[in-house]
Amino acid sequence: MNKKLQKPKGTRDLIGKTYEQRKAFLTFAENRAEMYGFSGIETPIFEHTEVFMKGVGEETDIVSKEMYRFKTAGGDDLTLRPEGTASVMRSYIENGMISDTQPKRFYYDGFYFRHEKPQKGRYRQFTQFGVEVMGAKNPAYDALVIQLGYDILKKGIPHIIVEINELGTQEEREAYLAVLRSYYEEHKEKLPKEDRERSITNPLRVLDSKDEQTKEVNEHAPKLEDYFSEESKRYFNEVIRMLDTLSIPYRINPRLVRGIDYYEHTVFEYKLDDGETDIAFGGGGRYDGLAEILGYHESVPSIGMAIGVERAIEWSGNDAYSKEEKEKVYICAEEESLFPIMLSILQENTKHDVTFYPEFSIRKAKKHFERAEKLGFSKLLLVKSEDELELRNLETRESNTLTRDGYRDFLKS
Ligand code: HAM
Repeated sequence: MNKKLQKPKGTRDLIGKTYEQRKAFLTFAENRAEMYGFSGIETPIFEHTEVFMKGVGEETDIVSKEMYRFKTAGGDDLTLRPEGTASVMRSYIENGMISDTQPKRFYYDGFYFRHEKPQKGRYRQFTQFGVEVMGAKNPAYDALVIQLGYDILKKGIPHIIVEINELGTQEEREAYLAVLRSYYEEHKEKLPKEDRERSITNPLRVLDSKDEQTKEVNEHAPKLEDYFSEESKRYFNEVIRMLDTLSIPYRINPRLVRGIDYYEHTVFEYKLDDGETDIAFGGGGRYDGLAEILGYHESVPSIGMAIGVERAIEWSGNDAYSKEEKEKVYICAEEESLFPIMLSILQENTKHDVTFYPEFSIRKAKKHFERAEKLGFSKLLLVKSEDELELRNLETRESNTLTRDGYRDFLKS
């Protein structure tokens, strides 16, 4: 095939079942979020690059390697959103939401873009479902957000578990990072090149390295928790206490740092409970400093999470989120003059839990029966005249003749 007619690497066409599965997941997740007191927000698919550079952090993989960044003819420097939190915070600040009743609770979903190496569960255009609570610092909100993500994922993936960690405040972390950097400096000859570079730019990521030699160095690395204030320890214990009350399974992972710079205090990811499969179905955390990082004059304490929708669907046996199938009826006629009657039947039925598949080709009834069977329908409605319809059950091959007024009851039977 002509290469130009292929979709770009790491993207997908959603057709039929894959389209339906995504839609069903998002409907389920949106309903859940509304049940938990969240309301929807939609921000643009692209933002000024600065929003992500500052918000996500210049040294992160997302900003340094994965952004779809472009310049417009007018000279604007824009980027397709690689994540949702920085955009929602930009919107919160720009729209003066700080003067509303706090906290604001948002959910959002849509396509996000990261130039990553594609593989199962990793795409360059992917879907996130996310929530943010902005303008409150209370461990109960951390627990609420964690619980909502768990609740949504558990429907499809029963063995889901929360991995959680405490990062302390920005100041506590900075004190720790200074010590960690000098520790890596002392052991730099044992680190592979990439980790050596990261130990200067982003030493927390080195703690999470998969490299065997780095893992050895990490065994004796200074520990973040030794730099926590009593307040930070108390906050984390409160979050954990709530997860215990809610019977949400969790694992405290002191190595969990996440790949975005705006986090402090609580960070978490949704994983499988087998302790082996290293895939995050979603993740999030507290980002009390993000508003100031973006240039706002005060801090907006906030917590949120986002789920990778394709991953959740692919690991959930695919149909876990699908709704009950509606009854689909093939509707047809033998003559063109009856097509308007078909259309008016469709129009009258918008309130019913039945969907019609109108077939505007002129064929004999028998040919329509064959075609409808081939397309997988179980019911067929043949319009014979203005007031005469034939309802055929294609599985039992029974037919009933009925009037326009009488057909609805038959459809439900
Ligand atoms: P994140 O961990 O970068 O966090 O992304 C959230 C989830 O999106 C991941 O756990 C993963 O399931 C999914 N994901 C990420 N990249 C890809 C990809 N290339 N293909 C498929 N799925 C992917 C955030 O984005 C934060 N904004 C979450 C958050 C909200 N933190 C606070 N509030």
